[in-house]
Amino acid sequence: MKTKRSMLALVMVMVLSLVLAACGSASTKNSFENSDIETITSTPETASSDASAAPSEEPDDTSKGSNILIAYFSHTGNTEQVAQEIAEYTGGDLAEIQRAEEYGDLQEEAEAEILDGTRPDITVSVENITDYDTVFVGYPIWWDEAPAMIATFLADNDFSGKTIIPFCTSASDDIGNSLHIFSELCPDAEIAEGLTANDLNDIEPWLQELGIIG
Ligand SMILES: Cc1cc2nc3c(=O)[nH]c(=O)nc-3n(C[C@H](O)[C@H](O)[C@H](O)COP(=O)(O)O)c2cc1C
Repeated sequence: MKTKRSMLALVMVMVLSLVLAACGSASTKNSFENSDIETITSTPETASSDASAAPSEEPDDTSKGSNILIAYFSHTGNTEQVAQEIAEYTGGDLAEIQRAEEYGDLQEEAEAEILDGTRPDITVSVENITDYDTVFVGYPIWWDEAPAMIATFLADNDFSGKTIIPFCTSASDDIGNSLHIFSELCPDAEIAEGLTANDLNDIEPWLQELGIIG
């Protein structure tokens, strides 16, 4: 009888050990499962947002940027900064317009050039301007007009069938009064809505409205 009880106790101990072992392995499995769930929950979010952003944006950037030129004249750097922002948003190429000869007396000579319709010689840091279908043209407002170098740039190149997008920086005037040279010198180009870009925050919504970026 005593032996029977001992056997029974031994069997119960073994059964109990098995049950405890099973619980232990289940809780270990759960903790892996939980950490797997955490990993899976965060990974697809990151992966799917990366995956949805990368393939859809990459071809757009490439196809758009390869066809966009951002040409600008800048005397003290403000317009250049705007041009660089536009290049970052669009992936377009930058081209700096410079006067071939520096001004002697800027105030006198620059105003006289604009009033007389003089077209001073310029250099442009890109040769194949007409390979681009969309050309941003940026400049500072001088006496409520575009500097004469912009007139040279527009007159020297054939923009027929292309889209020109003017932008400027200024102390206070907006771009409106300066825009007449675009239709005068490039009658066969489409002139898109220009921007007075004195606030860099205006650039992105303007590009979106134009349909240049999404
Ligand atoms: C010669 C000259 C004439 C200017 N005329 C005007 C003007 O008529 N209206 C205006 O709002 N700002 C005028 N400005 C201010 C510039 O348009 C402004 O500082 C612009 O942001 C400069 O751009 P930049 O740094 O690219 O040269 C003039 C500046 C200069 C140097």
